[in-house]
Amino acid sequence: RDGAYVPALVIGTGYGAAVTALRLAEAGVRTLMLETGQLWTRPGPDGKVFCGMLTPDRRSTWFRRRTAAPMASFLWLDVVNRPVEPYAGILDRVDFGPMAVYAGRGVGGGSLVNGGMAVTPRRSYFREMLPRVDAEEMYRRYFPQARAGLRVNGVDRGWFEGTEWYRYSRVAREEAGRAGHGTVFLDNIYDFRHMRREAAGKAPKSALAGELIYGNNHGRMSLDKTYLAAALGTGRVTIAALHKAVAIRPHAGGYVVTVERSDASGRPLGTKEIACRHLFLGGGSLGTTELLLRARETGTLPRLGREIGRGWGPNGNVMTARANRPVQPTGCHQSTVPVLGIDAWDDPRHPVFAEITPVPAGIETWISLYLAITRNPERGTFTYDRGTGRMGLRWDRGQSAPGVRSARAFFDRMNRANGTDYRYDLFGPEPRAFADDFTYHPLGGCVLGRATDDYGRVKGYRGLYVTDGALIPGSLGVNPFVTITALAERNVERVLRQDVLTGRT
Ligand code: FDA
Repeated sequence: RDGAYVPALVIGTGYGAAVTALRLAEAGVRTLMLETGQLWTRPGPDGKVFCGMLTPDRRSTWFRRRTAAPMASFLWLDVVNRPVEPYAGILDRVDFGPMAVYAGRGVGGGSLVNGGMAVTPRRSYFREMLPRVDAEEMYRRYFPQARAGLRVNGVDRGWFEGTEWYRYSRVAREEAGRAGHGTVFLDNIYDFRHMRREAAGKAPKSALAGELIYGNNHGRMSLDKTYLAAALGTGRVTIAALHKAVAIRPHAGGYVVTVERSDASGRPLGTKEIACRHLFLGGGSLGTTELLLRARETGTLPRLGREIGRGWGPNGNVMTARANRPVQPTGCHQSTVPVLGIDAWDDPRHPVFAEITPVPAGIETWISLYLAITRNPERGTFTYDRGTGRMGLRWDRGQSAPGVRSARAFFDRMNRANGTDYRYDLFGPEPRAFADDFTYHPLGGCVLGRATDDYGRVKGYRGLYVTDGALIPGSLGVNPFVTITALAERNVERVLRQDVLTGRT
């Protein structure tokens, strides 16, 4: 064991963590960030840092013997996932029985693996979900600030209309139109100027070469290129990769965090204890909640309340696919970066925001694939097993049903209007049209205003903060990272002014 002291310790390197570290450092506070995953800079034997979706190797997956992509089959055949060597790969899937949660692992968190869709929620729904946050201030100040910090950009509409790489989106748009639904363009953190150079053969291909959920070798403006690069640029931030925080206890007006180190193959390299004055949790909905639940249940932070572990939701995620007619090919060439969504959130009975996502198989499949975000009021609760030291999730299959009902109502309409049907062969060996057993958008566990005060300060303790998706109460109606970033901007500004710079906690 060795020890160290830092004024501010940030756990994780995803959105909430990256914003917090940058603003702390800009204010002159020396900050250490801990990340359980790797720093993704070293090329593998193929000369690339990341592997593609069609050729996954150990870099793809966090400590499993097989990759675990959600669209797991084709014609019910197990042809998508591959055996891999257990390794600190980039995409994790945490199985909680009838619900699996995907998350990015590495310096940059989810920004390394996500679809990059940078969507601001509807103001009315944001107000409904987070009624104690001043929405006017969020939309005037912090959403624009987050979009600028993330370097959000949009696809050129003229190029979009003509390129083979987005035929799949245009086909799905036409079909939505027949069912009476409009589409909206979705901004992204993938650099669309780079994508156009890829298409023109002037830059190495990434989004146009089947790279996305296992990382992009080019074009993706992940956090390591934006917020984290700026944070490191201050000279006051250090990032320790392959460092997993496992326990928290109070110490001398601050906290001591126990950290397990390992190499990328999972070999233990020992334990460290790091003391800090201010502790910021940014391990994501799962990572942050697990640390606080463990601290409550093992008695190291006994004043933590019952709200820790509550209010979790999958953002109503439901994935589905339609089989198009042979006269509607979706194209052999598909950009992995989604740019269109079908906005049916105003439907009073079955609100759906359906993103048109690619099937970059390199062959014609006639498939339209969608990630539908639905309004599911069900919430799960995290549990802690003292024997194993592991976190569980109380979420039963029936809790996904409201989301599936909305998705079914919406896509039945699409199929009727287009004379088409669902694909039943893509989500495992059993025929099924809707994948309701996983989420890309885990939200909640330490909800703002319940487990914390209105700025992420954990109730019962001073100098302890939640910064990430754990703050959001289970549903947002759109993809979450812009909101997580904006909320972190808002909260850290207040905490810096009132707690950190005054020396008060
Ligand atoms: P985030 O999960 O980003 O980061 C947490 C980090 O902390 C991770 O790097 C983790 O390894 C680390 N960590 C956890 N516990 C730790 C511990 N104990 N010690 C040290 N480190 C620890 N969203 C969106 O808006 N648009 C989109 O297009 C998509 N698409 C999408 C696709 C896929 C495949 C996934 C998996 C996710 C998305 N998302 C998305 C969701 C989005 O990526 C997600 O909401 C954010 O990354 C969450 O940000 P956080 O800051 O909460 O944590």
